[in-house]
Amino acid sequence: MDSSLRIGATVGGSATFDSEYTAEEGQRRHAETLRYSDGSSERSRLNTSSSANGVVDFHEPVMLTETVASLQPDPGAVIIDATLGDGGHAEAWLRAGGRVIGVDRDAEAISRARRRLSSWIDKIDFYHLPFSRLSECTTSPCHAILFDLGTSCLQLEDADRGFSYLSDGPLDMRMDQMHGKPACLLLREMNQPALAQALADFGDVQQPNRVARAILRAGPPETTGELVQAVESCFHPRKRLKGLSTVFQAIRIMVNNELQELELGLKTGLEMLHVEGRIAILTYHSGEERYVRSWIRRESGRCICPPGLPVCGCGAQKSMIPIAMGLRPSTEEVSQNVRSRSARLWVGEKVHG
Ligand SMILES: C[S@@+](CC[C@H](N)C(=O)[O-])C[C@H]1O[C@@H](n2cnc3c(N)ncnc32)[C@H](O)[C@@H]1O
Repeated sequence: MDSSLRIGATVGGSATFDSEYTAEEGQRRHAETLRYSDGSSERSRLNTSSSANGVVDFHEPVMLTETVASLQPDPGAVIIDATLGDGGHAEAWLRAGGRVIGVDRDAEAISRARRRLSSWIDKIDFYHLPFSRLSECTTSPCHAILFDLGTSCLQLEDADRGFSYLSDGPLDMRMDQMHGKPACLLLREMNQPALAQALADFGDVQQPNRVARAILRAGPPETTGELVQAVESCFHPRKRLKGLSTVFQAIRIMVNNELQELELGLKTGLEMLHVEGRIAILTYHSGEERYVRSWIRRESGRCICPPGLPVCGCGAQKSMIPIAMGLRPSTEEVSQNVRSRSARLWVGEKVHG
């Protein structure tokens, strides 16, 4: 693996990187060296909770107050947290007197959440599963379900997981490292048109054909650094960060089958809810937003077929009422946690079984 990764000097006039850093020094040092014009660092913008020695402890839960309030936690109520992560949302639910079924496809996330929530151990059960298999956790209906989509800061910050263009590491990107193919293997099996399609569909990548050609030209990349080097010349220097993030997002979604997971997870989740139970979804990009918006509309009985179809083919039927449609985080939260900027909260209430 190439141990050094070149990083551009100035990005959009808003962020400046050290010109070069080594993989050995790792992403943690890099998070400290990436500084923005307002003086904040990438770490403070990611807003992970840190201990006194600066080591990141836990992912900071996004829209915590709004999410927990919208799910109406009553004492004893059971929530399925389908994306447990570091357990921030789950902890708030436990503090409100509820019980939790905690699910995550990342074994490391389950271990960390288990440590964090050790004082609530009789009120929470842990499952290392993708949320498409939620039905394996319980046969009893639950009061609420939460999907906080995407990756956690801890996943992003671990260079060995290969999620981030900010540090050099193996190009893996699997949330569950025990299953599936890492990104470097998947890319090896793809041709240019298929890759271009995935980049367009999953990341809204600009000039997807050009980017796909660049990725496959020198042989598919083995590391995040090689992927950055392959594609960065496709983007205007001022749009480099945005461009890289769309490419990494598209490949991550493909590696983890995220849209199929979402489709199955929401369908199963709704089936597992009590009548009057609520489902909350936190989305972080336009692909997730599009899917969740139409899903809630369809489940609320609104036809989402293209205009002009003689007969409805989308299967719209009223099984829920919409409670929140794309609620944004407060400006205060965004100023404290840049990751929350793209978050949107969607909530629905089940109306019949
Ligand atoms: C944004 S984090 C959740 C953070 C959590 N709410 C907290 O407060 O710490 C997303 C988590 O969902 C997990 N995840 C993503 N897709 C998943 C899926 N299909 N099935 C299960 N877990 C998934 C990831 O591994 C990650 O740990």
